[in-house]
Amino acid sequence: MDFNQLDEYKKNIINRTSKYEKNSELKKTSNDFFNQIGIGKADYVYNFLWMGVPIIQIPQDLQAFQEILWEVKPDLIIETGIAWGGTLIFSASMIAILESCNVIESGHVIGIDIDIRPHNKNNILSHPLGKKITLVEGSSISTDIIEKVKSMAKNYKKIMVFLDSNHTHDHVLAELNAYTPLVSKESYCVVGDTVIEDAPDEMCSKRPWGKGNNPKTAVWEFLKQNDRFIIDKDIESKIVLTGSPDGYLKCIK
Ligand SMILES: C[S@@+](CC[C@H](N)C(=O)[O-])C[C@H]1O[C@@H](n2cnc3c(N)ncnc32)[C@H](O)[C@@H]1O
Repeated sequence: MDFNQLDEYKKNIINRTSKYEKNSELKKTSNDFFNQIGIGKADYVYNFLWMGVPIIQIPQDLQAFQEILWEVKPDLIIETGIAWGGTLIFSASMIAILESCNVIESGHVIGIDIDIRPHNKNNILSHPLGKKITLVEGSSISTDIIEKVKSMAKNYKKIMVFLDSNHTHDHVLAELNAYTPLVSKESYCVVGDTVIEDAPDEMCSKRPWGKGNNPKTAVWEFLKQNDRFIIDKDIESKIVLTGSPDGYLKCIK
């Protein structure tokens, strides 16, 4: 495939997937599927591992991350919300691929979590990709942690951020304000679990977040005051199923 053919292929993707938004059958099918796979129902997000480590993500989002990471070629990925560490290992594996393709010189991943369980810490750091990862324990919105991460990020050229910790509106808005200044132009801040706004109420009945108080409402509020980011609708349209609707934020300046 030469470059003209590849451009044509990419154009066809946008032409095709931009119509998905108005395709009511597809929308209904994906909404129904999403409602069935949710927490407390099929618990689908707990079914997957990345290189042996549990990763609490919809696989379609991982395809989107891979496409973004190849496009952006970051040398630093900052993540809030580690849990078992699957997304950290995913990011580290992508960094290792970017290094082995010689498109970045040397990359790293920083993971922040308020509670890193000893067995998770051990599994992450003893993983073959553990040397690519630095763990930071503490609340992602505490001043100390934000300053620590900012200073660790100083020497990197292209930074991407993934927010997936406490999903309340106030917490995610504080994370957006703290970490988006680190995101490089043309790179992304991906906000996890914005889908809570669209999910049935009962899915979050035992959580401090829910409809009207979640990562998506924080994104909407953030974008009212910030013109460096836009929602990349192309990415979420094409994967159809996503935990991050309105959560793929592209840095445009
Ligand atoms: C949804 S899980 C993260 C899942 C992980 N990104 C993955 O995909 O495998 C949320 C994590 O956020 C952490 N968390 C909750 N409140 C936090 C806070 N204030 N600061 C940092 N992490 C927090 C929890 O301890 C939990 O490990």
